[in-house]
Amino acid sequence: MKASLHNKNILLGVCGGIAAYKSAELLRRLQDTGANVRVVMTSGATKFITPLTFQALSGHPVHTDLLDTEAEAAMGHIELARWADLILIAPATANSIARLASGRADDLLTAIYLASNSKKAVAPAMNHVMWTAETTRENIQKLQKNGTEIFGPASGDQACGETGPGRLLEADKLISSCTQLFDTGELQGIKIMITAGPTYEPIDPVRFIGNRSSGKMGFAIAQAAIEQGAIVSLIAGPVSLNTPEHSKRTDVETALQMHQAVMNNIDGQDIFIATAAVADYRPIKPRSQKIKKTDDEFSISLTPNPDILKEVAALDNPPFTLGFAAETQNVKDYALLKLKNKKLQMIAANQVSHSEDEQDTGFNSEYNALQILWNGGEARLERCRKTQLARQLITLLAKRYHEKTTT
Ligand code: C5P
Repeated sequence: MKASLHNKNILLGVCGGIAAYKSAELLRRLQDTGANVRVVMTSGATKFITPLTFQALSGHPVHTDLLDTEAEAAMGHIELARWADLILIAPATANSIARLASGRADDLLTAIYLASNSKKAVAPAMNHVMWTAETTRENIQKLQKNGTEIFGPASGDQACGETGPGRLLEADKLISSCTQLFDTGELQGIKIMITAGPTYEPIDPVRFIGNRSSGKMGFAIAQAAIEQGAIVSLIAGPVSLNTPEHSKRTDVETALQMHQAVMNNIDGQDIFIATAAVADYRPIKPRSQKIKKTDDEFSISLTPNPDILKEVAALDNPPFTLGFAAETQNVKDYALLKLKNKKLQMIAANQVSHSEDEQDTGFNSEYNALQILWNGGEARLERCRKTQLARQLITLLAKRYHEKTTT
């Protein structure tokens, strides 16, 4: 998905430095991208360029005072703080940077900056000695620590006649830096359902048939998908993992419950990722009372569970499907078979380590390695942490998904 400033609300903060005149051009260029721009000036800035210039260019009143009753009645500092998707302070003087870093809120621009949860960026412009001064360095670090982006400065000839770092970045560079802040991710708005973890199939009220799946791979994939802008529903078997922020989690225990939770909500999902280690069989009749020990042989009759992934892939209008194949041998062959039999778009195969001299991968491990197969292609993701692996897998999946949906 391409990032853009179209329809973004940008509050352009202009501070009192000679580079303030460049902000007029910057304003025009921001408007050309389709952004809505409002301008706030510090009192120092008004000594270099008049509010009227920005008002004429932006078509909106320019805000300069914190304690102006008229301005506060129209669009006050809190409204401006809420309105902005991005506060871009360009140019930002050493003084304004110091004031922002120390949490001052005694003029309009600093008050808005402090009161806003929007994205924030500062484009410094000052004499190079001021820029390299220890206190400025510390202030910049403070702003960065608070999540503010620092754009520039560029190096070159300065208005004071000296040369060095401290020039305001050119408008096109500032605009592309701003645009990158809205890079919305490869899966922006795409709905993804992910199954994760094991299932427990009850034998009696205290016993079950389970497996060693920890859910870590599925949860890492959920996290990686969210980072790329996806809307994630996570159907989790019994695991002890924290819910990734911004995901919708449904907890289940048995394969039948997982099946139901998936089928009830699969409508409208764009992608289905089945990482869960679903039990293939369940006891036909779980006992309602605890089974007593006897000396006799004891057996449990099992019946197959529904194959959730296969069922989803066979829907009339199926989502893009990614299955997993955890194998202890002939990994690629079995995975290819599953890809075909279950009619999947992609399958991620991994060798589950099962002896001490093998590297720790797969079930219940922090690490994994995957071989990804699809009709006509394959990729290997080498052994690394599941969190890292999940990001690589999501990148690959997003590419395949977009290729498929555009053909
Ligand atoms: O056939 P097998 O169980 O090896 O296939 C593994 C893949 O199918 C995994 O993606 C797993 O999550 C999914 N699966 C499922 N429902 C089942 C069994 C497996 O969704 N009952």
